[in-house]
Amino acid sequence: MNAPHRIDGRLHLEGVALDTLAERCGTPLYVYSRAALEAAYRAYEEAFAATPHLICYAVKANSSLALLNLFARMGAGFDIVSGGELARVLSAQGDPRKVVFSGVGKRVDEMRAALEAGILCFNVESTSELHRLNRVAGELGKVAPVSFRVNPDVDPKTHPYISTGLKENKFGVPIAEAPALYRTAAALPHIRVTGIDCHIGSQLLDLSPLADAADRVFALVDALAAEGIALEHIDLGGGVGISYRGETAPDLAGYGRVLAERFAGRRETLIVEPGRSLVGNAGLLLARVEYLKLGADKNFAIVDAAMNDLMRPALYEAYHEIVEVIARPLPKRRYDVVGPICETGDFLGSARELSLDEGDLVALLSSGAYGMSMSSNYNSRPRAAEILVDKKEIHLIRERETQEGLMAGERLLD
Ligand code: LLP
Repeated sequence: MNAPHRIDGRLHLEGVALDTLAERCGTPLYVYSRAALEAAYRAYEEAFAATPHLICYAVKANSSLALLNLFARMGAGFDIVSGGELARVLSAQGDPRKVVFSGVGKRVDEMRAALEAGILCFNVESTSELHRLNRVAGELGKVAPVSFRVNPDVDPKTHPYISTGLKENKFGVPIAEAPALYRTAAALPHIRVTGIDCHIGSQLLDLSPLADAADRVFALVDALAAEGIALEHIDLGGGVGISYRGETAPDLAGYGRVLAERFAGRRETLIVEPGRSLVGNAGLLLARVEYLKLGADKNFAIVDAAMNDLMRPALYEAYHEIVEVIARPLPKRRYDVVGPICETGDFLGSARELSLDEGDLVALLSSGAYGMSMSSNYNSRPRAAEILVDKKEIHLIRERETQEGLMAGERLLD
């Protein structure tokens, strides 16, 4: 059982009781299941087995070294968006030859580091970036492998903040302008054109926009081939969405079949860059109730985790299931579950029916993706510790930050 489940009313992840874990390691605490992470990765490998492929885990979803190392051991490549993410992948023993570098604002030093490491491909997002990369590669006496991120202008039907493939978004180059860019690139001495990529958005629950985007990309690949520009890989961006509150997540095997049909008889390798669907449902955030504040209009459960730990509710009004860690025979009340931060937006869940007492523990489910990786120190709050559970074993994979750590590097005036 790699999903959170109850044994005698106590919530467990794998073989570990979460109340005992919280006593031992404190709260707020991120907890991940190794079995769930591995199962999610294997599901991708199986779904795409019929097509030559590379799964490049999107590091931004959760960049903890232990998770990166786990995926590296399973053979994953990585999708990075900064020099910092590259450094993490290398520290976690990821293979640089399986790294693709996405992002609209790559700096010179980041390009250099990626060229020195020998990454698989730069996903280039503009003409200026192409020319900068050609120059930087030239200075190092190298040739940069390049794919262009094309913007296929399809509506992914997701939250506007995480939709990226519409023409009004900042990402990629308009698909109509891509052929000219490929011709320019083919003539540059320090660029080698190797692929194409697109990414239309995240938390996609409907496969049809993904299939539409793929079709537009395939049409372009064929037009380029007719001009003599043959590509080695087609990168279709992020993975499928996940279930946060009982939504039906897309059928990954079905996505694999849709792509297998399209790739049949082709020479290019498929690359996918899933983040959320590899880690999201493998992690949860434990928090303790500090105070219950009961009122005529509303009840608040003030917990010791906040928007700095899990920003998704405040930023996207995202829903995370909140459950009691120990089921108690108390009457349920309707609570807004909030953190201690001085902002009205600091909520983790609103109008939740829970039976709680002060001092109780709650778990915020499906927090493995874009939880810890988007956390901050707002209100001078040290960031949470992270634990990986493996059957009955627990591994501290990141220590809780300390106040001294937060202030290290700051200076008073002379
Ligand atoms: N590739 C690229 C180029 C991306 O921009 C992203 C996500 C991914 C791959 C991974 O997509 P996924 O498989 O996770 O859907 N912070 C937001 C999500 C932002 C996603 C940004 N890009 C959230 O918490 O929902």
